[in-house]
This record gives sequence, C-alpha cells and structure tokens, in this order.
Amino acid sequence: MSQEDEPSPLYSIEQLDKAKHDRSGFSCGLEDLDQYLKRYANQDLERGVSTPYVLTKGDEPDIIGYYTLSNYLVDVEIFPAEVGDGLPYAQIPATLLGRLAVDQPHQGNRLGKTLLLNALKRSYEVAEDIASFSVVIDANEEAQGFYLHHGFQTFPEKEDKLYLPVKTIDEII
Ligand SMILES: CC(C)(COP(=O)(O)OP(=O)(O)OC[C@H]1O[C@@H](n2cnc3c(N)ncnc32)[C@H](O)[C@@H]1OP(=O)(O)O)[C@@H](O)C(=O)NCCC(=O)NCCS
Repeated sequence: MSQEDEPSPLYSIEQLDKAKHDRSGFSCGLEDLDQYLKRYANQDLERGVSTPYVLTKGDEPDIIGYYTLSNYLVDVEIFPAEVGDGLPYAQIPATLLGRLAVDQPHQGNRLGKTLLLNALKRSYEVAEDIASFSVVIDANEEAQGFYLHHGFQTFPEKEDKLYLPVKTIDEII
C-alpha cells in the first residue's frame, strides 16, 4: 500500500465493535448496504460468518465506511482457462469481499480506495497463513466500475462477480 493510500492518521480501520461504533447515521446511497451494516453486520460477526471492518475518523464513533471479509469456496471452472487451468480441484479457496461502502458525504475523497486497499492487504496477509487463491466480490453493474478501475476482472460467465488473484495483490498494494 503506498503512503498515499494508507488511512491518514486522522482515520482508522478496525473490526466492528458495537459498543464503540455508531452505525445509525450511515447512508451510502444503496439501501441494502446501509441495512446490512445497521442490522446484520454485528450478528454475522458474532456468528462467525463474516467479519466487518469499519473506517472512523479520530475519536468519533460514526462509521464513515466499511467492508466485510469471509472465507469462500469457488468453482474452478468459472475462472478463465488461463487462470484456473491445471488446478486439479473442482473448487478452490478464496476470500469474499462481501460488501464495501462509503457514507455519502464522504464519497469521492479516496476513502473507498483506502478501504479497498486495506481489505486487499488484509486478504493478502491472511492468505500467507491460510491459502486463498483469489479475492472475489459480488458487484452490481454500477459498482463494477470501481473494482475494474482497481484491477479486478470479471469472470467470463458470471457477470455479477469479479476477481483478483491473491498473487497479484502485492503488485497493487
Ligand atoms: C463505490 C464507492 C465505494 C467508492 O468510494 P469513494 O470513496 O466514493 O471512491 P474513491 O474516492 O475512493 O475513488 C477512488 C478511485 O476510484 C474511482 N471510482 C470511484 N467510484 C467509481 C465507479 N463507480 N466507477 C469507476 N471508478 C470509480 C475514482 O474516480 C478514483 O479514481 P482515481 O484513484 O483514479 O482518482 C462509493 O461510492 C460507495 O460506497 N458507493 C455506494 C455503495 C457501492 O456501490 N458499493 C460497492 C458495491 S459492494
């Protein structure tokens, strides 16, 4: 991660803590992403199905942005031949970047990019201990531009999913 993309000392990114972080005012423009943070993110954390990380400013409790990570299993056949070819498995381990969003008043200030690079760096570091072939994200058409802009690629026949091989993450961060 370049110095420019590290969270500035003003901001921090850490695991969601419902006693510390205020989710009530978060609004990114997509209702399902807002509702997920407010209603389900902490439940998923407690049940061990997804880990939410939140971006806050200084000592303020308000959540400005968030993303979630989970372990994932992907069918090898959905990768392009040149990427998945030669892997003698039907399914391979991956990391799911389930959601990523920035509060509307803060959009356009590189915080989405800061969150994405933080998620990629974390995924890369975890994959050194527990193998992961690729980071995968479900993204609607509108959000795809953001991920394509940052080096993700679409699967040939799964237009709602994008991927970034873990081995290429160090080139990006
Ligand atoms: C998509 C989103 C996360 C981007 O966050 P942001 O803080 O507004 O974006 P940033 O300021 O960090 O942008 C970083 C770079 O991405 C580019 N970018 C941002 N949104 C983009 C988009 N939709 N398509 C293409 N490029 C985009 C910016 O132009 C910028 O480019 P640069 O580095 O070359 O200058 C944010 O707009 C958002 O939360 N949207 C609603 C929720 C959503 O769609 N989430 C993704 C689906 S899970």
